[in-house]
Amino acid sequence: MDNRDRVALVTGAARGIGASIARKLASVGHPVVLADVLASVEDTAAAIRAEGYQAQAVQLDVSDEASVADLPQRLGGWWSDLGVIVNNAGISPKVEGRKRLVEDIPLDEWQRVISVNLTGPFLLSRRAIPALKRRRWGRIVMMTSQAAHTPSSITGAYYGASKSGLMGFARTLALELGPFGVTVNSVAPGRIKSEMVAGSTQAANEAFVASIPVGRMGEPNEVAEVVSFLASDAAAYLTGATLDVTGGSYMP
Ligand SMILES: NC(=O)c1ccc[n+]([C@@H]2O[C@H](COP(=O)([O-])OP(=O)(O)OC[C@H]3O[C@@H](n4cnc5c(N)ncnc54)[C@H](O)[C@@H]3O)[C@@H](O)[C@H]2O)c1
Repeated sequence: MDNRDRVALVTGAARGIGASIARKLASVGHPVVLADVLASVEDTAAAIRAEGYQAQAVQLDVSDEASVADLPQRLGGWWSDLGVIVNNAGISPKVEGRKRLVEDIPLDEWQRVISVNLTGPFLLSRRAIPALKRRRWGRIVMMTSQAAHTPSSITGAYYGASKSGLMGFARTLALELGPFGVTVNSVAPGRIKSEMVAGSTQAANEAFVASIPVGRMGEPNEVAEVVSFLASDAAAYLTGATLDVTGGSYMP
């Protein structure tokens, strides 16, 4: 079995880090499924196909149980060949570039962040487990955040709560799936150039960059390289781990 027989499904792949991961995994031979709420995910998949790789798009909301349950029907043979899942879709609401304080967070906004960032990865992982177990090979990667480790003045409390929760979820899943050849790891980026980061004020981003030892924000492809390693055979003995991609701004 090589990467051509291992379909990689990447959520939040229309743009940013997810698009970069999808392109990287395609370039090392995986057929890739790009999933996103945005209709523009079709264009991102088309651009990857134009580079000569296999890619298809599905428009879906990862927090919608029925849409996730329907994926095997929508993907057909691609679902049977599923090998890699990257739970990358995430949201970090801001008001005029700033986070809300806890006392100002409306319940529906709290629930939305938890649904997309934490429940979404649960729904997709749960759906995929039988297919991965059957193949006795699989890779699940959770896109968490530096905010899962440390308090953040940039992101709201629901964001850190969801990402810490995702790391906890990943560890238990790693325990359950280890005997079946399926690894489950987290990637925790610091500040990476994307539309999400562009949604914060320039002052907040500049202050953050000043605290990064390597002296700059990361690029989406620098996260994609780490995900690609975790998805490879070389990472077979790595599970339940978190890889920090922060330019040194977080050192455990
Ligand atoms: N950029 C950073 O500095 C940074 C740092 C740490 C963690 N992260 C995490 O990396 C991931 C990607 O972030 P990004 O910076 O590329 O952000 P982004 O906003 O550019 O991209 C996120 C993508 O997820 C999609 N998405 C949002 N809600 C969805 C849903 N319900 N269903 C399906 N797709 C959905 C969006 O449409 C978008 O295409 C997120 O989980 C984010 O929390 C980013």
